[in-house]
Amino acid sequence: MKRTLGTCYYPEHWPEEIWAEDAARMADLGLTWVRIGEFAWRRIEPGPGEFDWGWLDRAIEILGDAGLRIVLGTPTATPPRWTLDRHPDMLAVDVEGRPRGFGSRRHYCFSHAGYLAESKRITAALAERYGRNPHIAAWQTDNEYGCHDTILSYSEAARHAFRDWLAERYGTVAVLNAAWGNVFWSIAYNSFDQVDLPNLTVTEANPAHGLAFRRFSSDQVVAFNRAQVDIIRAASDAPVMHNYMGRITDFDHFEVGEDLDFATWDSYPLGFLEDRVGATPQDQRHFARQGDPDFQAFHHDLYRAVGKGRWWVVEQQPGPVNWAPSNPAPLPGMVRLWTWEAFAHGAEAVCYFRWRQAPFAQEQMHAGLLRPDHAEAPGMTEARQVMAEIADAPDVVPKQAPVALIFDYDADAAWAVQPHGMDLSYFGLVFDMYRALRGLGLSIDIVSTQQRDFDGYRLICAPGLVHMSDDLKAALARADQQVLLGPRSGARDAEFSIPVPLPPDLPDVDLCVTRVESLRADMPRPLAGGGAVQFYREEIEGSGAPLLQTEDGDVVALKVSDSTTYLAAWCDAKGLGRLLKDLCFAAGLATMDLPRGLRCREAGDARYWFNYNPHPIEFEGFKLPAAGVFRQAM
Ligand code: GAL
Repeated sequence: MKRTLGTCYYPEHWPEEIWAEDAARMADLGLTWVRIGEFAWRRIEPGPGEFDWGWLDRAIEILGDAGLRIVLGTPTATPPRWTLDRHPDMLAVDVEGRPRGFGSRRHYCFSHAGYLAESKRITAALAERYGRNPHIAAWQTDNEYGCHDTILSYSEAARHAFRDWLAERYGTVAVLNAAWGNVFWSIAYNSFDQVDLPNLTVTEANPAHGLAFRRFSSDQVVAFNRAQVDIIRAASDAPVMHNYMGRITDFDHFEVGEDLDFATWDSYPLGFLEDRVGATPQDQRHFARQGDPDFQAFHHDLYRAVGKGRWWVVEQQPGPVNWAPSNPAPLPGMVRLWTWEAFAHGAEAVCYFRWRQAPFAQEQMHAGLLRPDHAEAPGMTEARQVMAEIADAPDVVPKQAPVALIFDYDADAAWAVQPHGMDLSYFGLVFDMYRALRGLGLSIDIVSTQQRDFDGYRLICAPGLVHMSDDLKAALARADQQVLLGPRSGARDAEFSIPVPLPPDLPDVDLCVTRVESLRADMPRPLAGGGAVQFYREEIEGSGAPLLQTEDGDVVALKVSDSTTYLAAWCDAKGLGRLLKDLCFAAGLATMDLPRGLRCREAGDARYWFNYNPHPIEFEGFKLPAAGVFRQAM
C-alpha cells in the first residue's frame, strides 16, 4: 500500500470563492485526504432543527471533484450555544464543582442524556445526508475525546449515571460496600442513591471509589462514541475512526477502538515536549525544535494496536503551535522526519493540521501549510518533499516487532487514584521502559492485556499492571519468551484491595512483595554495576537469580524462572538499560547502544533511521544530517 498525505481544512473559515483554488492546490500537491466538518455544527444547524446544508454540499462537491477523498467529522465537540439553552445542565463540571463554561469547545458532559440525544440527532442528520456521497471516504467521530481534561465530569448527570452504573455492576449496595472496604471510616452506604462522586471530600476518597468512577467515565465515552458509530454505519459503508491524542489516558482507547475501523491520532511533537513527555530540562532544551525522540513513536505503536493494525496521523504539526508553554518553530527537516517516522511505524496516512493558518480566534498563532495570506509556509516545502519521496520510495512493509510491551488503561487509572508518591504514574513508568528499549535499537509492538498470542515475540514487557487477570498471568507463565513483570504487578485485586497471598502471586513462582516505599527525587538508591533505583521500590521475598541489586545488597530484579523476571522498582535509564540488555541476551535478541537522539524502526526488509539531534550524527559507518532520515536496506 502506498502511503498517503492529507490535510485538515475548514471551508467554513474561508470565503466560498477560494474553495476551488484551495482544492486545486491540495490536489496539485498530491494530497489524497481532506478532513472537514468536525467543528461546523453552528454553520450546519444555526438554530435547533434549522439546517443550512447548502454550503457543506458545495464544499464537499468542490473538494471531491478536485479528486480529494473526504474525511467528514461529526461536530459534537463543539455544541452550539443554543444547545445550552435547551439543556442548561449539559455542561461538564470540573473536580472543584465548577461548570466548564461555553466559549471554547468540549463543554459537554458524556453522561447528559439530553446532550447524547442532540449528538445522535446531528450525527443522524449528517449520516443521512452524506452517508452515500461518493466523496465521503471516512468518518471521524467527535474530536479528541479527553482534550482539555474533559473525561471526568462531576455533574449531576454524571452522579445519577454513576449510581446506575454501580447498581448494574454490584447488584446490591452490600456487595459494593464489601468490595470497596467501606467499613473503613464508616463510609458504608445504605443505598446506591447515597453514593456521590469522589470529589470535594475532606481528604482523599476511597481509591476503590475513585477507580470505579474512572471506569464508569471510560464506559461513558465508549457508549457515547458507539452511539455515533451505530448511526453512521446504518447510513454509510465508509470506515469510521476517532482522533486520539498524546498522553491522554483517561478512557480505555482499546474499548473505543473495538467499535471503530481504524485509529488516528494527533501528533504535535513540539507541543508535547515541555509538559507531557516528562523530559529533563536539558533534553527539553536539546530537543526544543525536534520533539522527544521516543514520544511520537510510542503513540504510533500504541495506536497501531488500538486501531487493530490500521492507523493514521490525522493531525501532524507543520510549524509552531499556539498552546504549549512555549512554541518554537521546528528545525528544518523535522516535518519531513515526523512524517516518515509515522510511515515507518505503519501509518497509512499523515494529514497536516491545518491547511491554512486562521487569522482569527483561538488558533491564530498556529501554523498551517499556508500562511493567512495564502502564501506557502515552511511546512509546505517539506510536505512537498515527502510527496515526491513517497512516489519513488519502496513501500513500508509492516513487520512484527521482536518485543511486545503491554499497555493497559485500567492500570493507568489505578496508579492515578493511588500513586503513593508525587509524579509516580503508570504512563511514565511504561514510557521509561519503551524509551530504554528503543535506546537499544529495538522495534516494539504495544499490545493490550487481552493479547494471548505472543508467537513471534522474543521479549514481553508488562510493567506496572496493578491488576492482572488469572488468565493473563497464566498466559505469561506459559510463554516461552522472556517475560518482564513488575513493579506493582497484581498489586491489587479487581476492586482495588491488596490480595492475599501477597502479590504478584504468579503461578508456580516463589515470590512476594512484602513492603513498598516511594522515594524523594533526591534519594536514588545506586545499583551495583551502574544505574539507580528512583521514585519507587519494593521489598521482595522469594527465590531466583538476582539480576540487579542495590549497592548495599537489596534485590531489585529477580529472575524467578527460566523465562520470568520480576522488577521490584522504578529504575533510571541506565539501570533499566542494563536489565533489558540482559533479558535480550537471554532471548537471543541483538541490541545496539544508540547515541542520544538517534532512533530506528524496522519495517519489512529495511531499517529506518531518524536523527532527532540538531546536529549531524555518525553511527556504524553512516552519517545523518540534523533532522535526517535514512532507509537502510537489510
Ligand atoms: C488538536 C485539535 C485541533 C487543533 C489542534 C491545534 O488538539 O484536535 O482541533 O486545536 O489541536 O494544535
